[in-house]
Amino acid sequence: MSCLGEPDPAVVRDRVLHVTDLHFWRISWSPRRLVGKRLLGMINLRLRRRRIFDLSGREQMAETLAREGAPTVIAGGDFSTTSMEEEFQQACSFLKTLESMGLKVYAIPGNHDVYTFTAARRRSFEQHLGAFMPGERLPARVLLPGGTPVVFVPGARPNVLSSRGDILPKDIAETARLVKEAPSGPVLVVGHYPALYRTEAYAQRPLHRLGHARLLRAALGETGRTILYIAGHVHRFSETRDPRFPNLTHVTTNALFYRGRGGYTVVECAETGFRVTAKGM
Ligand SMILES: [Fe+2]
Ligand SMILES: [Fe+2]
Repeated sequence: MSCLGEPDPAVVRDRVLHVTDLHFWRISWSPRRLVGKRLLGMINLRLRRRRIFDLSGREQMAETLAREGAPTVIAGGDFSTTSMEEEFQQACSFLKTLESMGLKVYAIPGNHDVYTFTAARRRSFEQHLGAFMPGERLPARVLLPGGTPVVFVPGARPNVLSSRGDILPKDIAETARLVKEAPSGPVLVVGHYPALYRTEAYAQRPLHRLGHARLLRAALGETGRTILYIAGHVHRFSETRDPRFPNLTHVTTNALFYRGRGGYTVVECAETGFRVTAKGM
């Protein structure tokens, strides 16, 4: 990313790994569990997704992430495919493996982690992965070991059929406050959904988008802070300077286990800005 300029390890105060859209999966044809949207999700999983999300290299991936030497992993949602208990258990086991390797892990939910209204009501994500959340609720702010502030935003919600998200105006206002009042320097903002509907790398269909994204962009841009907004959901790496707010840059990360083009993003944080590098498997 251009705002950091030439690589200079001396000015980097934090390195963080962004992983997202892990999509652990489990096929079940139990009639009790195949209610509503999950039936369609399971058919899609059986016909397509199970071949796309290759989980066989998860141990190797954990070792690769640990070898990066960054102390922090930010996991940006869609840990599961249809919010099944077994999927969350696999995700929890993977995050615990990273922890056992000395990495601090933060996790927020994606739309697949509240895939059904029942999973959302039962708070399945929080039950299994709540220990990795950056706070009891989102938005929340933490500081990385070198002092870089990170603000995590909400957006995932259950839907009857679509993959839409939404961030409420009150949560946008709270996000802006957390950014404005963060310690000086660039701020990393993390969401599951991109705040730009279209970049050179992707174009989101209306039923896949984050509601109120334009308001969120404006609120972030108007803080005047240097912000890197990093997200997942589109399963593609991209890096785009906001067309309206030059202080705001948008990055999306590949889905971690996506066959053939999976990977993660390394974010280096300096007092002058950020540099991002996409890493593949
Ligand atoms: Fe996803
Ligand atoms: Fe998603």
